[in-house]
Amino acid sequence: MKVSALEIPITRTNQSRLPEVDFNNLPFGSVFSDHMFLADYYDGAWQDARVVPYGPLSLEPAAKVFHYGQEVFEGMKAYKDKEGQVWLFRPLENQRRLNKSASRLMIPELPEAIFMEGLKTLLRTDSDWIPTVAGSSLYIRPFLFASGNGFHASPSDRYTFVIATAPSGAYFAGEVHVRIEEKYSRAANGGVGYAKAGGNYAGQFYPTQLAKEAGFQQVIWTDDNTHEYIEEAGAMNIFVRIGDTLLTSPTSDRILDGITRKSILELAEAEGIPTEVRKISVSEIVEASKKGQLKEMFGAGTAAVVSPISGYGYRDERFDLPEVADSYATFFKKRITDIQYNRSEDPFGWRYPV
Ligand code: COI
Repeated sequence: MKVSALEIPITRTNQSRLPEVDFNNLPFGSVFSDHMFLADYYDGAWQDARVVPYGPLSLEPAAKVFHYGQEVFEGMKAYKDKEGQVWLFRPLENQRRLNKSASRLMIPELPEAIFMEGLKTLLRTDSDWIPTVAGSSLYIRPFLFASGNGFHASPSDRYTFVIATAPSGAYFAGEVHVRIEEKYSRAANGGVGYAKAGGNYAGQFYPTQLAKEAGFQQVIWTDDNTHEYIEEAGAMNIFVRIGDTLLTSPTSDRILDGITRKSILELAEAEGIPTEVRKISVSEIVEASKKGQLKEMFGAGTAAVVSPISGYGYRDERFDLPEVADSYATFFKKRITDIQYNRSEDPFGWRYPV
């Protein structure tokens, strides 16, 4: 489908909720903008692209998403610069990843034109919802799910695509302490770990709750086979700095191919920061901690941006990360957010005007 061929009708709300929003006190992802974008798949094609007031969706109890979890999503953000221009960050990467996730769950791929034109039309409709307060942005949640009915355990014949948005502040409210997990697993070889499927997140809630009760905010997952190698944190990819070397695990069918992760690796290469993308064992991390060589750990993701990790727990031991003057996390966070908010040049061409 040609981009220009797509007509997107807009039905506007007659009662904006914007005056109720305290932009100086925004939580993450819990206040929703006035409109949403919708498209449906039936009779073998995606159709009926439209922008409508944000509100409940009408689904039957037999909708397959409720029974077999056929659902995938993306996380993106829109940023407004000083001149009021709106920007996205590498949106085509999200569009491609959404389809990669969809294919794994037997959901029909969504045409690029519907994703991009739907997104731009929605953002232009709700541009007043994009925060300008420092550290805030409009979090964007595109998702695809099985809206056809039936209890037969087989793929649906109908799907719905939604984009909803939420003006948001930081994902983590305070310090981030992580527990390296070796009992529960997030993903397995040949599974769906690389897909942004809702079920991947649901499966983490219980082990994460156990970790929270022990004083941690997140779990670092290890490989399901040996539990010897760190993988990702579920809500973000993980970077480790040992000495001056930046390390992260290679993506695989168990690890999400994060766009912030990818951007950090490209920035590190451009800056000449020594980087290794390889398996990182827990014993290597613990040994580096004990020798004072573990300088930093941080998470990277759209919601998390770049989130420094203050300490980690492994088995019965707890380790604090030192304060470092030349923090890689601080450097990458600044470089990435400067590009996102149009505060610097964009040598990589990552910024996308809306
Ligand atoms: C994102 O970073 O956008 C995600 O989708 C992760 C989610 C846990 C908030």
